[in-house]
Amino acid sequence: MPERWSPDSWRSKPIVQVPEYPDPKALAEVEGQLASFPPLVFAGEARALKRSLARVGAGEAFLLQGGDCAESFAEHSANNIRDFFRVFLQMAVVLTFAGASPVVKVGRIAGQFAKPRSSPMEKRGDVELPAYRGDIVNDIAFTPEARIPDPRRMLSAYRQSAATLNLLRAFATGGYANLSNAHQWMLGFVKESPQSARYEALAHRITEALDFMRACGIDPESHPEMRTTDFYTSHEALLLGFEQAMTRVDSTSGDWYDTSGHMIWIGDRTRQPDHAHVEFARGVKNPIGLKCGPSLKPDGLLRLLDILDPEREPGRITLICRFGAGKVGEHLPALIDTVRRAARPVVWSCDPMHGNTVTANGYKTRRFEQIVQEVREFFGVHAAEGTHAGGIHLEMTGQAVTECTGGARAISDTDLNDRYHTVCDPRLNADQAIELAFLVADLLKKEKAEQARPLPAVAGL
Ligand code: PEP
Ligand code: CO
Repeated sequence: MPERWSPDSWRSKPIVQVPEYPDPKALAEVEGQLASFPPLVFAGEARALKRSLARVGAGEAFLLQGGDCAESFAEHSANNIRDFFRVFLQMAVVLTFAGASPVVKVGRIAGQFAKPRSSPMEKRGDVELPAYRGDIVNDIAFTPEARIPDPRRMLSAYRQSAATLNLLRAFATGGYANLSNAHQWMLGFVKESPQSARYEALAHRITEALDFMRACGIDPESHPEMRTTDFYTSHEALLLGFEQAMTRVDSTSGDWYDTSGHMIWIGDRTRQPDHAHVEFARGVKNPIGLKCGPSLKPDGLLRLLDILDPEREPGRITLICRFGAGKVGEHLPALIDTVRRAARPVVWSCDPMHGNTVTANGYKTRRFEQIVQEVREFFGVHAAEGTHAGGIHLEMTGQAVTECTGGARAISDTDLNDRYHTVCDPRLNADQAIELAFLVADLLKKEKAEQARPLPAVAGL
């Protein structure tokens, strides 16, 4: 029998990656306030996402998940949100049209504020200070005051998430996501990029298809699914005091949901089966992501699936694999084999970012070629196993940053200095994100073609 779960049962478990707040009373006050605030998302929406993810798990759709490594208070603006959403829509349209697959869209946005760190301290020269843990915890400035965890930051994160979601909902349902706008989604700088001709040609084909459908009597005015889109939010459920405060009983089902985002995930550093983060996630009904790094062994994965998904509910678990280029073949086949034998309905997704971080010119960066390589390896292993490469999980932005090297514009190590804006990990810029979407679309098309191929005739039959 599993132990009884409650929104605060994680508090009696061991925990890593938590900030030390100097004023526990102020922390409790803020958490109490948050618990009285309206939910950011609704249980019914999280259930709808779970149904869509169940389709991904069944091989009928593809998951596109992406956004900032860490959202920041300083960069919160309508333009940033719009530019991100626009690139995301472009990628989704590339995958839907060129990859001929329905796309489930999940942003790393409207709540992606808390960061796990490999070291609790940061050293610069002779000075050592507590590490920056995301804007929801402390400030990125390298001063002793800035690095003190401040609970009031949770209130700012809540308000920023609410405002971001409000705009995203307006974009998704208010006309901006209308397929007839596919041409307009082209961003200024993407227009001059090597990807633009390919995207322009695709947008043109969509327009033709829409014209044809209009002539047949089907148009966006009468078919809302053509002028709106379903867009969901997700983040790492790391700062558990915040997540607990946002966890509410859904009145229609009587189940607990973490209403801070539609989907939450457990990071690679906090997935110990007997620790606090897994304890928290097992009791909420949201779709749950689980980061799978090289240290996750098949029996460890099975144990986590038993805890997190005892009912084997389709759409509940997304396994977000982040092994690093050159390492997928070493780790993924055994995990797939175990999951298959245990008849577990999971979504397999590829995070080609977190296993491929290197340092160049003093900057944390990622090589586009390595990102592409890990995605190719992921699809290759799934093709060999006969399973569905279900999704990708990316750190990306709509801005023209220079944080990852390579891509069609060949950003070099010396270019990193130009527009390196991230507060945490390096993100794909809009060009690189769209380039990757075309590549994934090709891989998806190949996967479909393989599956559609008739079995070879057996001699003598
Ligand atoms: C992240 O997704 O930003 C992250 C920290 O990933 P991981 O837990 O896989 O290292
Ligand atoms: Co990251």
